[in-house]
Amino acid sequence: MKKEIYTMYKHYCNLYKLSEYKSKNLWKIIRPICYHKEFLKRFKSPYWHHDNKTISEHIICDTIVTYKIVDKLQKKKRLAKIINIKNAVLISMFHDLYQEPWQNNFALNYKKLINKHAFTHPIEAAINAITWFPQYFENKNDAFIIIDGIVHHMFPLPVRAVNNNDMQLNNNDKYNNISNEYIKMLQLSTKTGRFNNLSLRKSLFLEGRIMSKADKIVAIRKDLKSIDGYIAFLTGKNKKLINKKVD
Ligand SMILES: [Fe+2]
Ligand SMILES: [Fe+2]
Repeated sequence: MKKEIYTMYKHYCNLYKLSEYKSKNLWKIIRPICYHKEFLKRFKSPYWHHDNKTISEHIICDTIVTYKIVDKLQKKKRLAKIINIKNAVLISMFHDLYQEPWQNNFALNYKKLINKHAFTHPIEAAINAITWFPQYFENKNDAFIIIDGIVHHMFPLPVRAVNNNDMQLNNNDKYNNISNEYIKMLQLSTKTGRFNNLSLRKSLFLEGRIMSKADKIVAIRKDLKSIDGYIAFLTGKNKKLINKKVD
């Protein structure tokens, strides 16, 4: 599976025209995450993200596009010092590492609209990233930049506010186990731009805003190719994916 992930990474580097030199540099940052068992798991059925692209494929594409945008912006001297390319890449690698597949998953049963996958998956992804990759969250300044970027990546869609109300998270067990300082960061990140237990704002940091832009570029231009993929956003069902395996 590790070899397949690397082959997939090289395929998308070519598709998005990332040079050999830059693709090696980016691989050095993301390799430990790509080889983690939870990332490898999301490279297979039933972990379809947009249409018939797996979560891992989508994340790799977003990360390549994020890296390219930051690399280009850093050529402007004024921006070179204020954008941290590693944090932008990490936000991308973690942003959709949510718990359960959402297409054709008939076991998902959200009691409230605000707890549906569209609004809660960034929170689940942040909790999973903190749990599976604690080494990237040791520096608390970087941790808040990464968490805020993950949490608000869906902007202009709002995100579920982290509070004491039942959020119906699919990884509630992990939420209860992470350190209180990370819970506070999640709460702080969703405290502003608040209405009805949702928070609507961009990330406070450039790294998060760039990644959110890359997410839209990949989703709209490359991921979503069929009517079934768009219908799934409304219904959660995608008839094209039934019985589909990774090619
Ligand atoms: Fe997302
Ligand atoms: Fe995404």
